[in-house]
Amino acid sequence: MLKQYVAEHFEPYIPEWHAADILNVLEIPPDTQLGDFALPVFTLAKLRRKAPPLIARELAEAIGDHSHIKVQAVGGYVNVFLNRKEALRAFLEHWQTVRARYAEPTGKGERVIIDMSSPNIAKPFGVGHLRSTVIGQAIYNLYVKHGYEALRVNHIGDWGTQFGKQIAAYKRWGQDLDLDRATVKDFLDLYVRFHEEAEHDPALEHEGRAWFQKLESGDLEATRLWKIFVERSLKEFDRMYARLGVSFDAVLGESFYNDKMDAVIAQLKEKGLLEESEGAHVVRLDDEGLPPCIILKSDGTTIYATRDLATAMYRHDVMGGDWLIYVVGQEQTLHFRQIIAVLKKMGYDWADRMVHTPFGLLRFAGKKLSTRRGHVIFLEDVLDEAVARARAIIEEKNPALEDKEAVAEAVGIGAIIFNDLKNSRLHDVNFSLEEALNFDGETGPYVQYTHARVRTVLARMTDEDRNVLEEALPRARSDQDSPYLYTLSTDPAWALIKSLDRYPEVLQEALIRHEPSVVARYVLDLAKEANRFYHQERILVQDAALRLPRLYLMQEVAKVLADGLDLLGIPHPEQI
Ligand code: ARG
Repeated sequence: MLKQYVAEHFEPYIPEWHAADILNVLEIPPDTQLGDFALPVFTLAKLRRKAPPLIARELAEAIGDHSHIKVQAVGGYVNVFLNRKEALRAFLEHWQTVRARYAEPTGKGERVIIDMSSPNIAKPFGVGHLRSTVIGQAIYNLYVKHGYEALRVNHIGDWGTQFGKQIAAYKRWGQDLDLDRATVKDFLDLYVRFHEEAEHDPALEHEGRAWFQKLESGDLEATRLWKIFVERSLKEFDRMYARLGVSFDAVLGESFYNDKMDAVIAQLKEKGLLEESEGAHVVRLDDEGLPPCIILKSDGTTIYATRDLATAMYRHDVMGGDWLIYVVGQEQTLHFRQIIAVLKKMGYDWADRMVHTPFGLLRFAGKKLSTRRGHVIFLEDVLDEAVARARAIIEEKNPALEDKEAVAEAVGIGAIIFNDLKNSRLHDVNFSLEEALNFDGETGPYVQYTHARVRTVLARMTDEDRNVLEEALPRARSDQDSPYLYTLSTDPAWALIKSLDRYPEVLQEALIRHEPSVVARYVLDLAKEANRFYHQERILVQDAALRLPRLYLMQEVAKVLADGLDLLGIPHPEQI
């Protein structure tokens, strides 16, 4: 809002630009000494064919100093200093309307379908799926916040030739397994063994193929075993989702589309898009500069891509999706480009509203991290280890804390989620539990702890204070309220005001870029400012003209921190 305030003030002096253009280029200087905002004039200088410092000087002179805004030309920038009391009046008034939800309902009810998590059955819930799960959940929250109707869909990998192998392995070596109790780990062991032994026993591959054929033709035994694999795996995944605080609006595995692919293939044929190539049937995408998309393999079976075509059509036609989002690793970029290209060739313009939202790898740096079983790191082990470490830290820092176990869980899980979300999603994440749980670092626990600390201060205010906070202070505009405004004009308070003011913009940017890290960085900054404030200004002092505005500020900070953490899917205990 303060940015808007500056942009509008500048508009009459820059005929080349509208307020919206100015808003786009206004920056926040790296050093607060340089002002509250800065307008870079480099593009303007090009338009006016003059050197940037000259333009900056001319502009600063034309704008001149006013009671509420002062300007100063420095190099190619016009630096802006707001009169804090004047700006505070405007901020407080505006904040009253913003603080109910912070984001503007730009979505107008459009339906967004988000493909997220989507792990594969009978395999461990991998760390790649963890990324898709937490990034997907945060993006979902951002959509809902902006007034979209969002649906989370878990596209479980529950179909494909590997299930033939899984059944073959079970038939050979799994007879002793108690299927009611079997875990994904047991299934994985069978699967690994299959691949090891298949190297010198070619009959195995043949058995695997035969079982998959049986499965595809609805054979009872094959179907029964497959169902057990699916159910046991989902049970384990659900345990993970509950701990991560994630749920789904639909869980539709790949197998759900088995009876929906013939129609897709028929359409492709009808539209003359299907070509034979070395026995397989493909859609050529040469004109898009892409390799052909295989629809049917030479043995006539469908593949992952065929299912994704049917899936997209289902999500658009039946589920009514206006936007189809896929939170899937960047190694599948080509796959999604092909799917979108094929759908467009089929004449579906809505394919333009399909968005692949990729992310980088999650790597484990610390060796001592967790039990490694084979080459696979089980997510559950990582979660357990994080919670155990959080528990130890809490035990040391605050042994008298109530509900220690619940707090340890919230902090341990929060550390993992935050660590995943704090960098741009395309960056690879280097994972070290040590770092993720550092209460003084750029971590989830740091933000959670700051929030809890602020809440603890707020819990000590009186009912009378609380009333003033809700009623009088937000309306502090007249001169008799100026002690309040004065209190909020100190450097640390003003810095916090400016941070709060930025929140709605931050939310919008995070949504537009599908980038939860924008919110994560923001809550880190806000937490840092809050700590600085807390160290420099005493809050619960006698003088109401100091106490009340400071409490007000802390209350709004706590609310925004909690809101940001909610968006990231991170719990925020009242005490830590
Ligand atoms: N199960 C797949 C994998 O683990 C991810 C599925 C992503 N979603 C999709 N509609 N293709 O690689």
